[in-house]
Amino acid sequence: MEKMWAGRFQKTLDKTADDFNSSLRFDKRMYAQDIQGSMAHATMLAAQGILPQAEVDTIIDGLQGIWEDIDAGKLSFDDGAEDIHMFIEAELTKRIGDAGKRLHTARSRNDQVALDIRLYLRDATGAIIDGVKEVIKAVVAQAEENADVIAPAYTHLQRAQPISFGHQLMAYAMMLLRDISRMQDAVKRMNLSPLGSCALAGTTYNTNRALVAEKLGFDGVTKNSIDGVSDRDFCVELLSAFSILMMHLSRFSEEIILWSSWEFKFIELDDSYTTGSSIMPQKKNPDMAELIRGKTGRVYGDLMALLTTLKGLPLAYNKDMQEDKESIFDAIDTVGMCLRVLAPMVATMKVLKENTYKAAQKGFINATDLADYLTKKGMPFRAAYKIVGQIVAECIEKGNVLDDFPLESYQKYSELFAQDLYEEIALETCVNKRNSEGGASPKSVREQIKYVQQCLK
Ligand code: ARG
Repeated sequence: MEKMWAGRFQKTLDKTADDFNSSLRFDKRMYAQDIQGSMAHATMLAAQGILPQAEVDTIIDGLQGIWEDIDAGKLSFDDGAEDIHMFIEAELTKRIGDAGKRLHTARSRNDQVALDIRLYLRDATGAIIDGVKEVIKAVVAQAEENADVIAPAYTHLQRAQPISFGHQLMAYAMMLLRDISRMQDAVKRMNLSPLGSCALAGTTYNTNRALVAEKLGFDGVTKNSIDGVSDRDFCVELLSAFSILMMHLSRFSEEIILWSSWEFKFIELDDSYTTGSSIMPQKKNPDMAELIRGKTGRVYGDLMALLTTLKGLPLAYNKDMQEDKESIFDAIDTVGMCLRVLAPMVATMKVLKENTYKAAQKGFINATDLADYLTKKGMPFRAAYKIVGQIVAECIEKGNVLDDFPLESYQKYSELFAQDLYEEIALETCVNKRNSEGGASPKSVREQIKYVQQCLK
């Protein structure tokens, strides 16, 4: 295919250089956005009297035909084209002749590409948000079912305090809600039309940028033509939001991996989300969770790649910026896949409540509650804390747990100890009484679930 800019040159582009330069293999996914943008631009050109209405009608019909043919798989992308913008313009001219050559009036590929990415990311982010909602729904369903399941919670990966297992799960729902609001926030800032910035300096034509913006569902237009074509902040912002989201998915995956190990056995993953080993017949591996954890590094890499590409670029457009697409598209694809596999994996996992309960019985995780028992009877917390520490040490030495340490032995430490202490430090009591706002009790878990469901509406 002859280059549109061939007139300026005596020789054609070297084949390897041409392949190197072309972005069609990855920007072709923006064909619908490119066509939509061109339609809005052409409509504006007619409305402003820059092009005759009849010609614009021909342009729009032609673009519609190309769109349908690509959708239907009837038109394949010509590898010779430099990018999706050139491909569609050339195809249009092939189909409708001279009118096609007028479409690029008062426009540059620089503002065109900036527009296309914004349109593409707006939709793609919507799909990611929907994917996050599916994970939240799966988490909430599990939390609901396991609100009364008692489990140990950890700090330093040491058993710390007893909680409702649903409480641990709902922590992830809260993180994911923040992820959604971060993405929505980024889209808000992104939703301005750069079209009309042209190459970098705007244009002498009497364009109507607001009309194009309105047709494409933007909230307004960008206010400086150089910024309009140079800005990729919205890609960086989204990549940051995706990176934080992946960090959350990775922490969740790490716990799923731990919980499904024989050392914990808090959950059993469904067969359809686990794999076997090629040599060890007994293995059931949590590959999906491991891949999500692993792919987190890849999404961080996409963020770092783009930040590094943009750093030091002089204004306005530079070809380096073509590198934005592979990073952001890779992140979109990767995050989307992770969400699609995580939601059903969480929905189908089984919580083994006998095991979480057994784990909660060991490790003195009701020691804080024993100290609180003394404190509620009038002893200062620090003094109570010290005594309970000594009791734990004696229990460990004698092979007791707090629940079967005899009352006479307790009373050697303090006269405040009475028979009711055993009821106070029972795991059920410890969990059910943690009713402070956002606390670990089943009642609190149910309130959190209500809150999250409200947010999802
Ligand atoms: N394929 C290019 C990109 O993705 C489109 C913009 C090209 N502009 C230019 N002046 N070469 O960035």
